[in-house]
Formats: sequence, C-alpha cells, structure tokens
Amino acid sequence: MDEKVKELLLAQVNKEFFSAYLYLGMANYYIDQDLDGFGNWYNIQAQEERDHALLFIQYLQNNSVPVVLEAIERPDQQYDSPIDPLLKGLEHEKYVTGLINTIYDAAYSVKDFRTMQFLDWFVKEQGEEETTADSLIKKYRLYGNDPRSLYLLNQELAGRVYSAPTLTL
Ligand code: FEO
Repeated sequence: MDEKVKELLLAQVNKEFFSAYLYLGMANYYIDQDLDGFGNWYNIQAQEERDHALLFIQYLQNNSVPVVLEAIERPDQQYDSPIDPLLKGLEHEKYVTGLINTIYDAAYSVKDFRTMQFLDWFVKEQGEEETTADSLIKKYRLYGNDPRSLYLLNQELAGRVYSAPTLTL
C-alpha cells in the first residue's frame, strides 16, 4: 500500500476513536441534564464511531498493515446549552467528511482502487451522518424551547437502537 494512503488510514483509526469519545462526552452531558433520550442517541452514535474505527483497523490488517494504537485526545465536554452538542456534532461530521475525502483523494492519485472501494461506504455514511446531525438541529430549533415538546423529542431519541454497520470486510 502507498505510504501516504497507509498513514492517512492509520490516522483515521484514531480520528474515529476520538469521534466515539466526543459523542460519549456529549451523551454524558445530556444524561447530567436529565435528557436521557439525547444521551441514548449519542451513546449509540459513539458505538457507531467505534465500529468505524474497527472497520479501518480490519481493512488495514486485511492489507497486512500493522496497526499501532495512539493516544486519544481529550474531547470538549463543556457545553453551553442542549443545542450546543448538536451544533458541534454537525461541525465534527463535516470535519470527518473532509478527512475521508482527503484519504479518497490520496488513494485516487495512486490508483488504489481497493481503498477507494472501501471508502465508498464511508463517503455515503458521512452524507447520512451530516443529514441526521442537521435534522437534529432543526428538530431542536422547532421543539427545544417548549418543555412539553422537548420531553417528546427526548422520548423519540430514547427510541434509537444500535444496529451494526452495513459494511462487512
Ligand atoms: Fe465515523 Fe461520524 O463518522
């Protein structure tokens, strides 16, 4: 595998674990605010991010690249209001989309079609994650300021259940 592509894929393992950590911090914030449904939603989001990290690890291992785990950065855990994590979540997903695009670009430039095909799932996933994060913000803006509506939105988010990634390697 091309050195640059390898380096970026290895770095992405850490970024995905960081995403899991960031969302776990958001879940903790909501649980502290008695918004357990939001907490549930972000706990599941954290699980998905861990899955993403494991997929990158597996892909690297399938290509005989040894994986060294690096330290995970401490995430921001101070939030001003319940909409704050939602806004930061969308911002973070846009950042991750940029990272995936950078790896894709590196793979493309060396005609690493296998990595491009692996990344296709993540390109689609990022699109979905941005849409979901955006829709959460819209819902919060519509319902978040009225306690009864916020209660119902919290209940809706409590219904999110974990499902394993659709990508298998
Ligand atoms: Fe692993 Fe939210 O992208």
